[in-house]
Amino acid sequence: MDKIQESVCEFEALPREKSIGGGWIVKYKGFWCPEMLLQPTLSFQKHFISKDSDILLATLPKAGTTWLKALVFSIVHRNQYSIDQSPLLTSNPHALVPFDHQLKHGKSETLYQENNTPSSPGVFATHLPYDALPNSIFKSKCKIVYLCRNPLDQFISQWHFVVQNVPQGKKAMPLNEALELVFEGINIFGPFWEQIMGYWNASLECPNKVLFLKYEDLRKDDVFYVKKIAEFLGFPFGKEEEENGLIEEITKLCSFRSLSNMEVNKHNKMHEKYPVKNSSYFRKGEVGDWLNYLTPEMAGRAARIIQEKFGDSGLTF
Ligand code: A3P
Repeated sequence: MDKIQESVCEFEALPREKSIGGGWIVKYKGFWCPEMLLQPTLSFQKHFISKDSDILLATLPKAGTTWLKALVFSIVHRNQYSIDQSPLLTSNPHALVPFDHQLKHGKSETLYQENNTPSSPGVFATHLPYDALPNSIFKSKCKIVYLCRNPLDQFISQWHFVVQNVPQGKKAMPLNEALELVFEGINIFGPFWEQIMGYWNASLECPNKVLFLKYEDLRKDDVFYVKKIAEFLGFPFGKEEEENGLIEEITKLCSFRSLSNMEVNKHNKMHEKYPVKNSSYFRKGEVGDWLNYLTPEMAGRAARIIQEKFGDSGLTF
């Protein structure tokens, strides 16, 4: 038995709950980790060697991870691919920018060999809370871009994703029960307020290390934020690029309408062993969709929790 296996056994006594998707989640060091990701998460925490040039995209699931991956991939690799040759035309953003648990041998370069995409800078994504990131990320100059979303929209998005991908023979949790659970803090990578506050505080303390963005702001003015992300990551757009409309071209390529209409995102699965269809990463891409699903009573209860958890932070949704 290797060390990681041993530690997984040690953790058998961890609090365990059913998530809204029907899978098991365990409370590990303050956050709810999907049981099936516990071992890869431990491995990532222990072995990951961050390089100064690495870029980490951090989100809660359904906060806009797919969009952020597409934008950052396009920004940092714009010299390798023109817009009409972008790998996004034929690959889902998740196939181009891997998650932390897909990492092998503790090095970010290994993530790209399979995808055949440029290994530098190493762009990868995580749903882990700030405090649970591997130490080497804090020691290196690796930059972190965090994208958060209104918790009610994020919840509605997650619930639909779960319903759409429920395994055969299993039933999705009814909406009101799911809402209760998530707003009690029992949800993958949650409690959501802890994860959001962790990155929010880090962005205030270390603004050169962590850029904190909101889905809603990006929806309002994606051109402004693409410019901001590029500057933060050390890939600022030149005058000529701006004059030639490259920022607008990137935002257009990565827009909901554009990505959701690509053949690859309409039908294909990521790969044979992965049961989730690419199309389920693109539902509506709207702000305020929760209004269509939650009763005033449900929304009121949730809003009180949001107020209680974020009230003094200066963070509003
Ligand atoms: P909805 O379910 O509200 O439509 P994630 O990428 O973290 O899994 O989040 C998925 C959510 O982001 C879904 O929200 C999806 O439609 C939305 N989304 C995906 N691509 C997007 C894009 N290019 N622009 C805006 N929203 C996008």
